[in-house]
Amino acid sequence: MKKKELIRIFDKQATLYEKKREGPKQKRWRQNLLSHAKGDVLELAVGAGANFPFYPSGIKVTAADFSEAMLEKAKSAAKHHHIEVDFICSDIEEMNFSDQSFDTIVSTLSFCSYDNPKMVLDKINRWCRPNGQILFMEHGISSNLAVSAVQKALNPLLYRAYGCHHTRNIVGLIRESGLKINKVESYWLNMVHLIWANPR
Ligand SMILES: C[S@@+](CC[C@H](N)C(=O)[O-])C[C@H]1O[C@@H](n2cnc3c(N)ncnc32)[C@H](O)[C@@H]1O
Repeated sequence: MKKKELIRIFDKQATLYEKKREGPKQKRWRQNLLSHAKGDVLELAVGAGANFPFYPSGIKVTAADFSEAMLEKAKSAAKHHHIEVDFICSDIEEMNFSDQSFDTIVSTLSFCSYDNPKMVLDKINRWCRPNGQILFMEHGISSNLAVSAVQKALNPLLYRAYGCHHTRNIVGLIRESGLKINKVESYWLNMVHLIWANPR
């Protein structure tokens, strides 16, 4: 799908993401993951700012997304939660930072969208400081055969409607990228993973 079309799909979902942000779903997972964030934090594909309530104090967040509509929602969430955020409207796949710029890189529900997730994993490996950490909450293909068959069948439809692939082997992709995985917690028949990693 062309990037322009993908951005349009996410722009249309911004109000929905803003509403979901306030709900209890995923709260426990986000809390568990983000309590580990520290220092200079880069949040990839920030969406409507669903992670903002869970960041510890004393961090500095840079947050990027290619959807202006999502960023508008994220800006009001940052204000509401009194956290300092530098927002960047950019395609993560085109974006660049100097090597070793961040202590923590956060990605929640973003690796389902990229055209080239391996390239993004290489980038974040470079952007993260050697003693830094990379925190993921991602969804992908289930290890349950019946569920994965449904995910494969519905994937083309879901991608066109929501801009999101449902068949990626997220833990496998991260392992192949060479990032050092410290801990994985998996939920919902292994469809959702919390992953704590370090750069190579
Ligand atoms: C499923 S939402 C997740 C939002 C947020 N991270 C969360 O946890 O609620 C995916 C987000 O990724 C953004 N996105 C997808 N592909 C992107 C890309 N290549 N560059 C920048 N943002 C992207 C979308 O605009 C959307 O805000």
